[in-house]
Amino acid sequence: MTRHFINLKDVGAETLHIILKNAHNLKAEKFNPTQIFEGLSLAMVFDKRSTRTRMSFEVAMKQLGGHTIVMNMDEMQLGGAESVESTGNVLSRYVDAIMLRMTDQKMMEELSQHSRIPVINGMTNTSHPCQIMADILTIEEKLGDIKGKKVAWFGDVNNVSNTFVEAAPIFDFEFIMACPEELHGYAPAGANITDDAAKAANSADVIVTDTWVSMGQEGKSLDIFWPYQVNSDLMAKAKDSAIFMHCLPMHEWEEVSEEVAKSKASVIYDEAENRLHAQKAILAWCLENAGVAI
Ligand code: CP
Ligand code: NVA
Repeated sequence: MTRHFINLKDVGAETLHIILKNAHNLKAEKFNPTQIFEGLSLAMVFDKRSTRTRMSFEVAMKQLGGHTIVMNMDEMQLGGAESVESTGNVLSRYVDAIMLRMTDQKMMEELSQHSRIPVINGMTNTSHPCQIMADILTIEEKLGDIKGKKVAWFGDVNNVSNTFVEAAPIFDFEFIMACPEELHGYAPAGANITDDAAKAANSADVIVTDTWVSMGQEGKSLDIFWPYQVNSDLMAKAKDSAIFMHCLPMHEWEEVSEEVAKSKASVIYDEAENRLHAQKAILAWCLENAGVAI
């Protein structure tokens, strides 16, 4: 079966734990990597901006001997008249995997149905699974096994928080969201959500936030979000050992104060680096049918 990496739930707990373990190992091998992707190509298609996702996938492929081809969706026939079905079939004849940053999750899922090669979700409006794998890798590096840890989220309900909700039962950690009440209806079923920021932060191991204005939401009012800013007062409610995380890019200094973002507790650049190590492990799993073995 073709190994798509679109939804964490579909990949399954057992496989996700293996991918995470491989990510830890691949990071340890960072200066002497085996060329496991030799002769393989990854196509990357974007309909939104990206720094980390694009660079980390490109470097992950190239450091391990593979190739990449990058296109914006509006340069492709897919952005014009060509169907998703035709595009999936055609790309399958050229490359070994496709990584897509695509606004519409349904369109990505449809494309995967017509693709004989793995489709990897580089973020949609509703999910960001590669980010959460890198985040779990970071939490484990800093704090040990994620099992039983309290991860507290502040601000918007978005693609990143949705995927944390999906990951929590799979990796057995507590995920609590503190968000304005008017947004609670947008949280996925089963989310542990409150409007009480202090309650969410209390004794947390990890304090995490993301921009209040995701790409495509420019011009949105920020008024309801200020009580959820991650600042020193909020960090003081978490454990002394708590770390601060943000997938980046930050909107300086809205969702997080400068003081917290630049504090010792902040692991945001290790988190960004870990996108690279996580991508290698995700690619290795997806490309196993193409002969990759680690
Ligand atoms: N965190 C993240 O996905 O960053 P980019 O938008 O720069 O890829
Ligand atoms: N929620 C943000 C994440 C960016 C990596 C967005 O969708 O713009």
